[in-house]
Amino acid sequence: MARYLTGIQSSGIPHLGNILGAIKPAIEFSKNLNNDCLFFIADYHSLTTIKSAEERIKNIRSVAATWIAFGFDYNKNILFRQSDVKEVLELMWILNCFTPFPMLANAHSFKDKSDKLSDVNAGLFTYPVLMAADILLYDAQFVPVGKDQIQHIEIARDIASIFNGTYQTSSFVLPEAAVQAEAMTIPGTDGGKMSKSYGNFIDIYLEEKALRKVIMSIKTDSTPLELPKNTEGDTTFKLYSLLASEEETNHLKKLYENGNFGYGNAKQMLFDKIMEHFKEARDAYFELMAHPEKIDEILWVGAQKASKIAQTVLTRIKPLVGF
Ligand code: ADP
Ligand code: TRP
Repeated sequence: MARYLTGIQSSGIPHLGNILGAIKPAIEFSKNLNNDCLFFIADYHSLTTIKSAEERIKNIRSVAATWIAFGFDYNKNILFRQSDVKEVLELMWILNCFTPFPMLANAHSFKDKSDKLSDVNAGLFTYPVLMAADILLYDAQFVPVGKDQIQHIEIARDIASIFNGTYQTSSFVLPEAAVQAEAMTIPGTDGGKMSKSYGNFIDIYLEEKALRKVIMSIKTDSTPLELPKNTEGDTTFKLYSLLASEEETNHLKKLYENGNFGYGNAKQMLFDKIMEHFKEARDAYFELMAHPEKIDEILWVGAQKASKIAQTVLTRIKPLVGF
């Protein structure tokens, strides 16, 4: 049976881009597959950039609550916190010693991050080895990720091959990236890729007034109210079309094309659509965040299930190395 595994860092509150681009598709995926999915919150990875304990704890719960609120079946699958399964650090050390230095030095994401961040710590450098440990510790075959993460999966595969080659075994399962055919990039309020790093994200968990303000801040062109407007390249239209039915989207397209329809009206429609579309998920999320002990309990149960797999794999790997 094919096993899928993916992680999301606890480096922020999941935004609309994370939800539509990663979380919802992964949940759909898990429903179509025999529910042998391991989804986890990469809290060790988040330490490379976030140092505040309160912030990390809040983000861990927020990411977990999002998986749950959007319908991930954590009973049939496994939802857990990376740091609850300590074996990952043990495996990471072993893998470190099979990782060629230049492979890490040439990784795109390390180069990007070391150009942008002022805190270039060793954790950022060895980030892909921890990620390889995440994947190899659970015999994952497929790893659903965005395009930006493909190289990390290739690194995991290369490290696994080096290890297998060294001991002439096939002990590590060689993982593959599972990238959606038409991987969507959700635009942010400035029209560029939505990201927490660009300050252009839409936090669907904001209270109504604040959320409305964010929607109203979406960048538009300066076509006057009375003239027809182009839907192509318009962020409000794009976001609306991702949430609305085909009929509703065609209706909004007509309004754009007819003229005498301002961007403010379109944004109001988008705001209403977000409130309607995410009502259930928002309610479930707020309920969970008000009872963090429920989230912690779900993660703890998940960690027990994940630990069992981790121990089986380590028991297979360690004797090869002489531990
Ligand atoms: P951010 O760019 O906000 O820091 P992350 O890098 O933490 O987001 O991404 C978490 C997950 O969400 C990844 O799987 C990533 O591919 C996906 N993701 C992030 N931003 C977008 C976006 N704008 N459109 C589609 N998917 C996205
Ligand atoms: N690096 C991934 C990201 O930023 C998160 C992650 C950590 C991950 N470990 C993983 C993803 C293992 C897939 C598999 O999006």
